Amino acid sequence: MNIQENISLKPYNTFGIDAKARYFVEITGLAQLQKVLELKAYPNKFIISGGSNLLLTKDIDALVLHINIKGKTVVEEDTEAVEVKVMAGENWHGFVMWCLDNGYGGLENLSLIPGNTGTAPIQNIGAYGVELKDVFVSCAAMEIATGELISFDLEACEFGYRDSIFKREAKNKYIITSANFGLTKKDHVLNTGYGAIEDELRKKGIVYPTIRDISNAVIAIRQSKLPDPKELGNSGSFFKNPVIGRKKFDRILKNHPKIPHYEVDEDQFKIPAGWLIEQCGFKGKRIGDAGVHEKQALVLVNYGNATGKEILDLATQIQQEVLKKFDVKIEPEVNIIR
Ligand code: EPU
Repeated sequence: MNIQENISLKPYNTFGIDAKARYFVEITGLAQLQKVLELKAYPNKFIISGGSNLLLTKDIDALVLHINIKGKTVVEEDTEAVEVKVMAGENWHGFVMWCLDNGYGGLENLSLIPGNTGTAPIQNIGAYGVELKDVFVSCAAMEIATGELISFDLEACEFGYRDSIFKREAKNKYIITSANFGLTKKDHVLNTGYGAIEDELRKKGIVYPTIRDISNAVIAIRQSKLPDPKELGNSGSFFKNPVIGRKKFDRILKNHPKIPHYEVDEDQFKIPAGWLIEQCGFKGKRIGDAGVHEKQALVLVNYGNATGKEILDLATQIQQEVLKKFDVKIEPEVNIIR
Protein backbone atom coordinates (compact mmCIF):
# COMPACT_ATOMS: atom_id res chain seq x y z
CA MET A 1 0.00 0.00 0.00
CA ASN A 2 1.54 3.28 -1.10
CA ILE A 3 0.83 5.87 1.58
CA GLN A 4 2.39 9.18 0.55
CA GLU A 5 3.13 12.18 2.77
CA ASN A 6 2.55 15.93 2.36
CA ILE A 7 0.77 15.75 -0.98
CA SER A 8 -0.77 18.83 -2.62
CA LEU A 9 -4.50 18.35 -3.17
CA LYS A 10 -4.57 20.95 -5.97
CA PRO A 11 -5.07 18.31 -8.72
CA TYR A 12 -7.81 16.63 -6.66
CA ASN A 13 -10.27 19.53 -6.21
CA THR A 14 -11.85 21.41 -9.11
CA PHE A 15 -11.47 24.75 -7.29
CA GLY A 16 -7.73 24.15 -7.66
CA ILE A 17 -6.99 25.04 -4.04
CA ASP A 18 -3.44 24.21 -3.01
CA ALA A 19 -4.16 22.59 0.37
CA LYS A 20 -1.97 19.73 1.58
CA ALA A 21 -2.80 16.22 2.73
CA ARG A 22 -0.66 15.01 5.64
CA TYR A 23 -1.05 11.46 4.27
CA PHE A 24 -2.53 10.35 0.95
CA VAL A 25 -3.50 7.03 -0.57
CA GLU A 26 -5.05 6.13 -3.91
CA ILE A 27 -7.92 3.63 -3.57
CA THR A 28 -8.53 1.42 -6.61
CA GLY A 29 -10.45 -1.54 -5.17
CA LEU A 30 -12.94 -2.55 -2.49
CA ALA A 31 -10.67 -4.99 -0.65
CA GLN A 32 -7.93 -2.33 -0.52
CA LEU A 33 -10.44 0.22 0.81
CA GLN A 34 -11.45 -2.18 3.58
CA LYS A 35 -7.78 -2.70 4.54
CA VAL A 36 -7.07 1.04 4.63
CA LEU A 37 -10.07 1.64 6.88
CA GLU A 38 -8.63 -0.91 9.32
CA LEU A 39 -5.27 0.91 9.62
CA LYS A 40 -4.97 1.93 13.26
CA ALA A 41 -1.94 4.15 12.59
CA TYR A 42 -4.17 6.68 10.78
CA PRO A 43 -7.24 7.25 12.94
CA ASN A 44 -8.38 10.34 11.01
CA LYS A 45 -9.53 9.74 7.46
CA PHE A 46 -10.74 12.18 4.84
CA ILE A 47 -12.45 11.08 1.65
CA ILE A 48 -11.97 12.80 -1.67
CA SER A 49 -13.32 11.64 -5.01
CA GLY A 50 -13.90 13.96 -7.99
CA GLY A 51 -13.41 16.94 -5.65
CA SER A 52 -15.95 18.94 -7.62
CA ASN A 53 -18.11 20.08 -4.72
CA LEU A 54 -15.42 20.85 -2.22
CA LEU A 55 -13.82 24.02 -0.82
CA LEU A 56 -10.67 23.31 1.19
CA THR A 57 -9.83 26.21 3.51
CA LYS A 58 -6.96 24.46 5.35
CA ASP A 59 -4.51 21.59 5.10
CA ILE A 60 -5.94 18.18 5.87
CA ASP A 61 -4.24 16.63 8.88
CA ALA A 62 -5.48 13.12 8.15
CA LEU A 63 -5.07 10.20 5.78
CA VAL A 64 -6.76 11.35 2.57
CA LEU A 65 -8.35 8.49 0.63
CA HIS A 66 -8.67 9.32 -3.06
CA ILE A 67 -11.48 7.07 -4.31
CA ASN A 68 -10.53 5.93 -7.80
CA ILE A 69 -12.38 2.62 -8.19
CA LYS A 70 -13.34 2.05 -11.83
CA GLY A 71 -15.90 -0.10 -13.65
CA LYS A 72 -19.27 0.02 -15.45
CA THR A 73 -21.47 -3.05 -15.87
CA VAL A 74 -24.98 -4.03 -16.90
CA VAL A 75 -26.70 -5.67 -13.93
CA GLU A 76 -29.84 -6.76 -15.76
CA GLU A 77 -31.75 -5.84 -18.89
CA ASP A 78 -34.67 -6.69 -21.10
CA THR A 79 -35.71 -5.22 -24.43
CA GLU A 80 -37.02 -2.03 -22.83
CA ALA A 81 -34.92 -1.21 -19.80
CA VAL A 82 -31.51 -1.73 -18.28
CA GLU A 83 -29.99 -1.45 -14.82
CA VAL A 84 -26.36 -0.38 -14.83
CA LYS A 85 -23.84 -0.36 -12.00
CA VAL A 86 -21.04 2.19 -12.00
CA MET A 87 -18.11 2.23 -9.60
CA ALA A 88 -17.51 5.38 -7.56
CA GLY A 89 -14.29 6.52 -9.23
CA GLU A 90 -15.73 6.78 -12.74
CA ASN A 91 -15.96 10.32 -14.11
CA TRP A 92 -19.63 11.36 -14.19
CA HIS A 93 -19.67 12.82 -17.70
CA GLY A 94 -17.70 9.84 -19.05
CA PHE A 95 -20.36 7.57 -17.57
CA VAL A 96 -23.19 9.62 -19.14
CA MET A 97 -21.42 9.39 -22.52
CA TRP A 98 -21.03 5.60 -22.11
CA CYS A 99 -24.80 5.36 -21.45
CA LEU A 100 -25.53 7.36 -24.60
CA ASP A 101 -23.07 5.29 -26.68
CA ASN A 102 -25.06 2.23 -25.61
CA GLY A 103 -28.41 3.89 -26.32
CA TYR A 104 -29.44 4.09 -22.63
CA GLY A 105 -31.70 7.05 -21.81
CA GLY A 106 -32.26 8.90 -18.54
CA LEU A 107 -29.04 10.75 -17.77
CA GLU A 108 -28.72 12.95 -20.88
CA ASN A 109 -29.86 16.13 -19.09
CA LEU A 110 -27.05 15.59 -16.59
CA SER A 111 -24.31 15.76 -19.24
CA LEU A 112 -21.07 17.61 -18.50
CA ILE A 113 -21.56 17.84 -14.73
CA PRO A 114 -18.05 17.70 -13.22
CA GLY A 115 -17.11 15.14 -10.59
CA ASN A 116 -17.31 11.40 -10.11
CA THR A 117 -20.24 8.99 -9.97
CA GLY A 118 -19.65 8.06 -6.31
CA THR A 119 -20.22 11.56 -5.02
CA ALA A 120 -23.14 12.37 -7.34
CA PRO A 121 -25.75 10.85 -4.98
CA ILE A 122 -24.48 12.85 -1.98
CA GLN A 123 -25.97 16.06 -3.28
CA ASN A 124 -28.49 14.49 -5.69
CA ILE A 125 -26.96 16.32 -8.67
CA GLY A 126 -29.49 17.99 -10.91
CA ALA A 127 -29.71 20.13 -14.01
CA TYR A 128 -32.14 21.14 -16.74
CA GLY A 129 -35.23 19.52 -15.24
CA VAL A 130 -33.72 16.20 -14.10
CA GLU A 131 -32.24 15.08 -10.81
CA LEU A 132 -30.14 11.97 -10.15
CA LYS A 133 -32.94 10.57 -7.96
CA ASP A 134 -35.22 10.31 -11.03
CA VAL A 135 -33.24 7.29 -12.34
CA PHE A 136 -31.47 6.16 -9.18
CA VAL A 137 -32.00 2.55 -8.03
CA SER A 138 -29.50 2.08 -5.19
CA CYS A 139 -25.94 2.64 -4.09
CA ALA A 140 -23.43 0.61 -2.13
CA ALA A 141 -21.52 2.34 0.64
CA MET A 142 -18.78 1.14 2.96
CA GLU A 143 -19.18 2.03 6.61
CA ILE A 144 -15.99 3.78 7.70
CA ALA A 145 -16.12 2.43 11.26
CA THR A 146 -16.62 -1.24 10.32
CA GLY A 147 -15.65 -1.71 6.66
CA GLU A 148 -19.08 -3.25 6.09
CA LEU A 149 -20.69 -2.78 2.67
CA ILE A 150 -24.29 -1.56 2.95
CA SER A 151 -26.90 -0.98 0.24
CA PHE A 152 -29.02 2.19 0.25
CA ASP A 153 -32.12 2.13 -1.93
CA LEU A 154 -33.95 5.20 -3.26
CA GLU A 155 -36.02 5.64 -0.10
CA ALA A 156 -33.08 5.15 2.25
CA CYS A 157 -31.15 7.95 0.52
CA GLU A 158 -33.87 10.52 1.45
CA PHE A 159 -33.10 12.64 -1.58
CA GLY A 160 -34.14 16.30 -1.72
CA TYR A 161 -33.03 19.36 -3.69
CA ARG A 162 -29.20 19.12 -3.62
CA ASP A 163 -29.63 16.96 -0.54
CA SER A 164 -29.53 13.37 0.74
CA ILE A 165 -28.96 11.39 3.93
CA PHE A 166 -25.22 11.51 3.08
CA LYS A 167 -25.25 15.25 3.78
CA ARG A 168 -27.05 14.73 7.09
CA GLU A 169 -27.23 11.68 9.43
CA ALA A 170 -24.88 9.59 7.29
CA LYS A 171 -22.33 12.39 6.76
CA ASN A 172 -18.71 11.25 7.22
CA LYS A 173 -19.90 7.74 8.14
CA TYR A 174 -19.92 6.05 4.72
CA ILE A 175 -17.96 5.95 1.49
CA ILE A 176 -20.16 5.38 -1.55
CA THR A 177 -18.44 2.71 -3.64
CA SER A 178 -20.90 2.25 -6.51
CA ALA A 179 -24.33 3.33 -7.74
CA ASN A 180 -27.03 1.62 -9.80
CA PHE A 181 -29.29 3.44 -12.25
CA GLY A 182 -32.43 2.29 -14.06
CA LEU A 183 -32.34 3.51 -17.66
CA THR A 184 -34.45 3.09 -20.78
CA LYS A 185 -33.46 1.28 -23.98
CA LYS A 186 -36.45 2.52 -25.97
CA ASP A 187 -39.44 4.88 -25.55
CA HIS A 188 -37.13 7.26 -23.73
CA VAL A 189 -38.70 9.88 -21.47
CA LEU A 190 -37.45 13.14 -22.95
CA ASN A 191 -37.12 16.12 -20.63
CA THR A 192 -37.06 19.11 -22.94
CA GLY A 193 -39.28 21.37 -20.84
CA TYR A 194 -36.42 23.55 -19.57
CA GLY A 195 -36.56 26.78 -21.59
CA ALA A 196 -32.91 26.85 -22.57
CA ILE A 197 -33.08 23.29 -23.99
CA GLU A 198 -36.10 24.18 -26.14
CA ASP A 199 -34.27 27.26 -27.45
CA GLU A 200 -31.13 25.28 -28.23
CA LEU A 201 -33.06 22.55 -30.11
CA ARG A 202 -35.02 25.17 -32.05
CA LYS A 203 -31.78 26.92 -32.98
CA LYS A 204 -30.56 23.66 -34.51
CA GLY A 205 -33.91 22.98 -36.22
CA ILE A 206 -34.46 19.75 -34.25
CA VAL A 207 -38.16 18.89 -33.88
CA TYR A 208 -37.94 15.25 -32.73
CA PRO A 209 -34.85 15.13 -30.53
CA THR A 210 -32.97 11.97 -29.64
CA ILE A 211 -31.35 11.49 -26.24
CA ARG A 212 -28.05 12.42 -27.92
CA ASP A 213 -29.59 15.69 -29.22
CA ILE A 214 -30.67 16.58 -25.68
CA SER A 215 -27.20 15.80 -24.34
CA ASN A 216 -25.62 17.97 -27.04
CA ALA A 217 -28.04 20.82 -26.23
CA VAL A 218 -27.21 20.59 -22.50
CA ILE A 219 -23.48 20.53 -23.29
CA ALA A 220 -23.84 23.66 -25.47
CA ILE A 221 -25.82 25.51 -22.77
CA ARG A 222 -23.38 24.58 -20.01
CA GLN A 223 -20.36 25.53 -22.12
CA SER A 224 -21.92 28.91 -22.89
CA LYS A 225 -22.21 29.97 -19.26
CA LEU A 226 -20.38 27.64 -16.90
CA PRO A 227 -16.59 27.77 -16.66
CA ASP A 228 -14.61 24.59 -17.41
CA PRO A 229 -12.81 23.67 -14.15
CA LYS A 230 -9.78 22.62 -16.22
CA GLU A 231 -9.44 26.23 -17.38
CA LEU A 232 -10.82 28.17 -14.40
CA GLY A 233 -11.09 26.62 -10.93
CA ASN A 234 -14.69 26.38 -9.69
CA SER A 235 -17.21 24.11 -8.02
CA GLY A 236 -20.31 24.80 -10.11
CA SER A 237 -23.09 26.52 -8.20
CA PHE A 238 -21.62 27.71 -4.92
CA PHE A 239 -25.03 28.36 -3.30
CA LYS A 240 -28.38 26.61 -3.39
CA ASN A 241 -31.35 28.48 -4.83
CA PRO A 242 -33.34 29.70 -1.81
CA VAL A 243 -37.04 29.03 -1.28
CA ILE A 244 -38.93 32.00 0.21
CA GLY A 245 -42.46 32.57 1.47
CA ARG A 246 -45.17 34.58 -0.30
CA LYS A 247 -44.85 37.66 1.93
CA LYS A 248 -41.17 38.07 1.23
CA PHE A 249 -41.67 37.25 -2.46
CA ASP A 250 -44.40 39.91 -2.83
CA ARG A 251 -42.19 42.47 -1.16
CA ILE A 252 -39.28 41.80 -3.57
CA LEU A 253 -41.71 41.71 -6.51
CA LYS A 254 -42.78 45.30 -5.80
CA ASN A 255 -39.33 46.67 -6.59
CA HIS A 256 -38.35 43.94 -9.06
CA PRO A 257 -41.39 43.00 -11.13
CA LYS A 258 -39.24 40.82 -13.41
CA ILE A 259 -37.73 38.66 -10.68
CA PRO A 260 -37.21 35.15 -12.13
CA HIS A 261 -38.86 32.52 -9.95
CA TYR A 262 -40.27 29.03 -9.84
CA GLU A 263 -43.42 28.27 -7.85
CA VAL A 264 -42.75 25.41 -5.42
CA ASP A 265 -46.35 25.58 -4.17
CA GLU A 266 -48.98 28.28 -3.54
CA ASP A 267 -46.95 29.92 -0.79
CA GLN A 268 -43.37 29.09 -1.66
CA PHE A 269 -41.13 30.43 -4.41
CA LYS A 270 -37.69 29.31 -5.48
CA ILE A 271 -35.50 32.22 -6.54
CA PRO A 272 -32.27 31.83 -8.55
CA ALA A 273 -29.46 32.76 -6.14
CA GLY A 274 -27.51 33.87 -9.24
CA TRP A 275 -30.09 36.61 -9.82
CA LEU A 276 -29.95 37.79 -6.19
CA ILE A 277 -26.13 37.88 -6.34
CA GLU A 278 -26.14 39.75 -9.65
CA GLN A 279 -28.58 42.33 -8.27
CA CYS A 280 -26.10 42.96 -5.44
CA GLY A 281 -23.47 43.89 -8.02
CA PHE A 282 -21.19 40.88 -7.64
CA LYS A 283 -21.35 39.40 -11.14
CA GLY A 284 -17.86 39.44 -12.64
CA LYS A 285 -16.36 40.94 -9.44
CA ARG A 286 -12.82 39.89 -8.57
CA ILE A 287 -10.94 40.24 -5.29
CA GLY A 288 -7.36 39.05 -5.79
CA ASP A 289 -7.64 35.62 -7.39
CA ALA A 290 -11.13 34.93 -5.97
CA GLY A 291 -14.03 35.96 -8.17
CA VAL A 292 -17.64 35.68 -9.23
CA HIS A 293 -18.02 34.25 -12.73
CA GLU A 294 -18.88 36.88 -15.32
CA LYS A 295 -21.57 34.77 -17.05
CA GLN A 296 -23.21 33.08 -14.04
CA ALA A 297 -23.11 34.82 -10.67
CA LEU A 298 -23.86 31.61 -8.79
CA VAL A 299 -20.41 30.28 -9.62
CA LEU A 300 -17.37 31.40 -7.64
CA VAL A 301 -14.04 31.00 -9.40
CA ASN A 302 -10.33 30.74 -8.62
CA TYR A 303 -8.29 32.75 -11.11
CA GLY A 304 -5.16 30.84 -10.15
CA ASN A 305 -3.77 31.17 -6.67
CA ALA A 306 -6.75 31.99 -4.47
CA THR A 307 -6.74 30.27 -1.11
CA GLY A 308 -9.85 28.50 0.16
CA LYS A 309 -10.10 31.17 2.83
CA GLU A 310 -10.21 33.94 0.18
CA ILE A 311 -13.02 32.17 -1.70
CA LEU A 312 -14.87 31.66 1.58
CA ASP A 313 -14.46 35.35 2.53
CA LEU A 314 -15.96 36.36 -0.81
CA ALA A 315 -18.83 33.89 -0.30
CA THR A 316 -19.50 35.32 3.16
CA GLN A 317 -19.50 38.87 1.79
CA ILE A 318 -22.03 37.81 -0.87
CA GLN A 319 -24.27 36.15 1.72
CA GLN A 320 -24.23 39.30 3.86
CA GLU A 321 -25.07 41.61 0.95
CA VAL A 322 -27.93 39.40 -0.27
CA LEU A 323 -29.31 39.27 3.28
CA LYS A 324 -29.02 43.05 3.63
CA LYS A 325 -30.64 43.88 0.28
CA PHE A 326 -33.33 41.18 0.06
CA ASP A 327 -33.61 39.74 3.58
CA VAL A 328 -32.95 36.32 2.02
CA LYS A 329 -30.45 33.84 3.43
CA ILE A 330 -28.51 31.91 0.79
CA GLU A 331 -26.84 28.68 1.87
CA PRO A 332 -23.71 27.15 0.33
CA GLU A 333 -24.19 24.06 -1.77
CA VAL A 334 -20.48 23.28 -1.73
CA ASN A 335 -18.96 21.18 1.05
CA ILE A 336 -16.73 23.65 2.92
CA ILE A 337 -13.88 22.17 4.98
CA ARG A 338 -13.02 24.66 7.74
N1 EPU B 1 -29.70 34.47 -13.27
C1 EPU B 1 -29.33 35.79 -13.25
N2 EPU B 1 -28.00 36.09 -13.15
C2 EPU B 1 -27.04 35.12 -13.08
C3 EPU B 1 -27.43 33.78 -13.09
C4 EPU B 1 -28.77 33.46 -13.18
O1 EPU B 1 -30.14 36.68 -13.32
O2 EPU B 1 -25.86 35.48 -13.00
C5 EPU B 1 -31.14 34.14 -13.40
C6 EPU B 1 -31.63 34.18 -14.84
O3 EPU B 1 -32.90 34.76 -14.83
C7 EPU B 1 -31.77 32.73 -15.23
C8 EPU B 1 -32.11 32.07 -13.89
O4 EPU B 1 -31.37 32.83 -12.93
O5 EPU B 1 -32.79 32.54 -16.15
C9 EPU B 1 -31.73 30.62 -13.80
O6 EPU B 1 -30.36 30.46 -14.17
P1 EPU B 1 -29.79 29.04 -14.66
O7 EPU B 1 -30.68 28.45 -15.68
O8 EPU B 1 -28.35 29.22 -14.97
O9 EPU B 1 -29.98 28.12 -13.40
P2 EPU B 1 -29.59 28.32 -11.87
O10 EPU B 1 -30.86 28.29 -11.07
O11 EPU B 1 -28.70 29.47 -11.67
C10 EPU B 1 -29.50 25.75 -11.40
C11 EPU B 1 -28.56 24.77 -10.80
C12 EPU B 1 -27.43 24.44 -11.77
C13 EPU B 1 -28.05 23.85 -13.02
C14 EPU B 1 -29.05 24.85 -13.61
C15 EPU B 1 -29.82 24.28 -14.77
C16 EPU B 1 -28.68 25.14 -8.42
C17 EPU B 1 -27.99 25.65 -7.20
N3 EPU B 1 -28.02 25.27 -9.55
O12 EPU B 1 -28.79 26.97 -11.59
O13 EPU B 1 -26.61 23.45 -11.17
O14 EPU B 1 -27.06 23.54 -13.98
O15 EPU B 1 -30.02 25.22 -12.60
O16 EPU B 1 -30.73 23.34 -14.32
O17 EPU B 1 -29.79 24.61 -8.31
C18 EPU B 1 -24.64 23.06 -9.89
O18 EPU B 1 -25.38 22.58 -9.03
O19 EPU B 1 -23.40 23.13 -9.72
C19 EPU B 1 -25.24 23.61 -11.10
C20 EPU B 1 -24.51 24.21 -12.03
